[in-house]
Amino acid sequence: MTLFRARVMDTPDDPFADGALRSDEDAGLLVVDGVITERAHYATVRADHPDEDVVDLRGGVLLPGLVDTHVHFPQVRVIGALGMPLLEWLERCALPEECHLEDPAYARDVAAEFVFGLASAGTTTALVFGSHFASAVDLLFAESARVGLRVTSGLVVSDRGLPDPLLTTPERAYDEAIALAERWHDVGRSRYAVTPRFSFSAGEDLLDACAAVAKDVPDAWFTSHVNENPAEVAEVARLFAEAEHYVDTYARHGLLDERSVLAHNVHATDAELAVLAGHGASVSHCPTSNAALGSGLFPLRRHLDHGVRVALGSDVGAGTGFSLLKEGLQAYFMQSLLGDAGLPLTSTHLLHLATRAGALALGLGETVGDLGVGKEFDAVWVRPLDDDPLDVGLRHAKSPEDALAKVFALGGDSDVAGVWVAGDRIKG
Ligand code: GUN
Ligand code: ZN
Repeated sequence: MTLFRARVMDTPDDPFADGALRSDEDAGLLVVDGVITERAHYATVRADHPDEDVVDLRGGVLLPGLVDTHVHFPQVRVIGALGMPLLEWLERCALPEECHLEDPAYARDVAAEFVFGLASAGTTTALVFGSHFASAVDLLFAESARVGLRVTSGLVVSDRGLPDPLLTTPERAYDEAIALAERWHDVGRSRYAVTPRFSFSAGEDLLDACAAVAKDVPDAWFTSHVNENPAEVAEVARLFAEAEHYVDTYARHGLLDERSVLAHNVHATDAELAVLAGHGASVSHCPTSNAALGSGLFPLRRHLDHGVRVALGSDVGAGTGFSLLKEGLQAYFMQSLLGDAGLPLTSTHLLHLATRAGALALGLGETVGDLGVGKEFDAVWVRPLDDDPLDVGLRHAKSPEDALAKVFALGGDSDVAGVWVAGDRIKG
């Protein structure tokens, strides 16, 4: 049993439905076997538990562990390549690097770098785009389990349009996915995600094989890309003449339900949004990636108007780093650049998108995403150095919302002073 003392902020009530920021200036959180069992003013909890160990996290802000709903394991070494649109970036930058993961020694190093990157940014839960190589995906699961992160991931599959070493067959894709799922699905904090790279690189038979894996692995997750870039969208329309639209290339194979998360969806039509909403699928909004690749401005308002669930993704390595704080800020920038079509976002919206919305998209809303009683203690302590601009801003903030806005505007990985998953400190 441990008693945490901190300034705590979280968003149990959806701010897109008028929920307010929950902020406690001096909270006591009692954690028993990794679960929060009491939350009240520190003095109140302390009075009931005078002998417990206290972890004093005063100074800075304690937030729920951040949730990244779209991040690529094999791309940690190519973060920061600027100046290319999607298809050129894939060809020149991402895919050559991904070929290296065929070598298990290389993949082991990248897995360690990747998991370290997540934890350092305060990300405690992630839906991870794996590798095209089963051995590399196995190493990713092993490393994330060793560190203690909640990772949902899987074998990335493609059978056309990519370099030969990254291609597979429907039969091999099925067999390797099932073998990985048997080792990792619902084992500890790991879960399996069926992962065709995108319809651009996946033919009908391969998508059928994906559907077979989804059927044969109970409660498997599904993730892929959709509607990211106009040239990609046009090519998918050409390749799938029978499909109604890009979303339909997945839907017609039965791949969309409430355990599906599609990344980007920048160029969605109303018909596609209706299909996503109808299936209860979620969209991972990846703003730094969309800006870096010039993919476009994400129509958040249209997603929410259609009832499509949205959370945040870093999309490392097209995205410019692991920080969900940065993604939140960029999401805010994007909506303001959209003018009347944009949705004005407050710091409360940004925290929700980076925490509880992600937990809901990943079916973990009962377990993590806020710091209320009954939730597991996944938390990130944002504690800048004394007199750092963020420290100055926090000390002079006019309200909790103002303080939280400063966390998003000024906070980064170097301010992440501690990270916990289910009560275990994994960083700091
Ligand atoms: N579409 C297919 N593969 C990728 C990828 O690796 N990154 C992004 N941003 N989009 C993709
Ligand atoms: Zn991606």
